[in-house]
Amino acid sequence: MKLTLENITVAFGKKMVLHEISTVFSPQKITAVIGQSGCGKTTLLRTINRTVEEEGGRISGKLELAAADVLRMPTETLRKQIGMVFQQPIAFPFSIEKNLSYVLNYHFKLSKAERKARITQYLTATNLFNEVNSDLTVSANQLSGGQKQRLAIARALCAEPDFLLLDEPCSALDMENTLAIEQLLLQIKQAYGIVIVTHNLAQAKRIADDIVLMDSGRIIEHTGKKQFFSRPATELGRKFIQYM
Ligand SMILES: Nc1ncnc2c1ncn2[C@@H]1O[C@H](COP(=O)(O)OP(=O)(O)OP(=O)(O)O)[C@@H](O)[C@H]1O
Ligand SMILES: [Mg+2]
Repeated sequence: MKLTLENITVAFGKKMVLHEISTVFSPQKITAVIGQSGCGKTTLLRTINRTVEEEGGRISGKLELAAADVLRMPTETLRKQIGMVFQQPIAFPFSIEKNLSYVLNYHFKLSKAERKARITQYLTATNLFNEVNSDLTVSANQLSGGQKQRLAIARALCAEPDFLLLDEPCSALDMENTLAIEQLLLQIKQAYGIVIVTHNLAQAKRIADDIVLMDSGRIIEHTGKKQFFSRPATELGRKFIQYM
């Protein structure tokens, strides 16, 4: 399922933040979004899941997930199909198990056994199962930052989204936890379209299939990783690579 943006423009009042963005995000791929601070990376993700509208942002243009019109989709459907993970790992203040069952119960009617099976499935997919299985009733607040971030990803997967959007998910994590998240994204990408904002170019080089480079609210490059890191098409792209 592709995510297609056509002439997407976003404004807060008179302030234009995204300008005529047209691009396609592919399923089964990791797309890394890079660019200088303030260029609109977070706004791009928050436009795709339409949370900018909650802050009074106005979106115009066309945004489609497969053939579905995302800009006119009921919020509930949208939240199910497009998951989001934030920079700061957020655990809901209840047990590990309930962090997931909460989302499962919201979207699906499951028997107790089915719910348990899915919890195991997503904790396993996020490489958490062995670390937490001895007691799933422990408060999620007791997990480490890296564990919380993996739980946040597991929670997003519970909705069975088509796309997963991640905004600098590793910037608060140490190297070991960062690598754990990267491994996990590589393992699950066959089943999801993944768009990850990162300031870490080495990370983009390690895990991305495609690179989106943004500048002043515009996408100025969207190419395969190899091409970007060997022959960037723009001056800013060249600067980024030199900086690495
Ligand atoms: N709710 C809002 N109201 C007004 N302007 C906003 C709002 N949210 C974002 N902006 C503006 O949009 C522009 C892009 O911000 P955004 O947070 O998307 O940048 P970013 O690329 O994610 O930066 P960083 O790398 O620092 O996280 C900035 O000029 C910011 O001030
Ligand atoms: Mg940001």
